[in-house]
Amino acid sequence: MTQDAHKRAVAAAAIDEVKPLFNADCVIGVGTGSTAVHFIDLLAQYRHDFRGAVASSDATAKRLRDHGIEVFELNHVGSVPVYVDGADEINPRLEMIKGGGAALTREKVVAACAERFVCIADASKRVAVLGGFPLPIEVIPMARSYVARELVRRGITPVYRDGVVTDNGNQILDCYDFLIEDPQRTEAELNNIVGVVTNGLFAARGADVLLLAGEDGVARFTR
Ligand code: 5RP
Repeated sequence: MTQDAHKRAVAAAAIDEVKPLFNADCVIGVGTGSTAVHFIDLLAQYRHDFRGAVASSDATAKRLRDHGIEVFELNHVGSVPVYVDGADEINPRLEMIKGGGAALTREKVVAACAERFVCIADASKRVAVLGGFPLPIEVIPMARSYVARELVRRGITPVYRDGVVTDNGNQILDCYDFLIEDPQRTEAELNNIVGVVTNGLFAARGADVLLLAGEDGVARFTR
């Protein structure tokens, strides 16, 4: 099975996971990335069974709307029973690195509002220790060099993701060669640097459920 087939299989498993929550008032949170795209495409056939969605990126909002799924402003939604999104890496505690698609801030905001975070991933994303994938940090543009110097001072190697502007008008620094032993502490420390909007560690609010696709099918893990 290809990696893309795994992504589609895990997206189908996520549909089964969220379907019991559907009702006329239900607004679900939808993530960003190629695994989330499979989820959105499969979700389309159930669009009359729930009220709509909040999106973690402009790209996701467009794809949802293209399928006729109503997209709500998060500020206009009282509760989000579930948020479904992919990850770049996930560890056994269901802490993640996200933001490979530069949508980390909106993803983190929707995840924070959600009662349940369902992570959908193929087996290549499962790691013992986070940090093999470069950790993205969203910075406001005028602070980019300052934040980069602060990261270097902490022994971290930031690389400017040239040409990428986030949906919030900001820029991304990717941190390479940075094994993260204590994700919750690192998440808080990096967010404390002035000029950082947020970093791609999802540890304070990790996933509640991991659906992981491999050669033997989709396995379900909980925290
Ligand atoms: C986007 C993300 C994605 O969830 C992450 O990059 C995984 O993407 P994919 O499903 O394409 O592997 O955090 O900002």
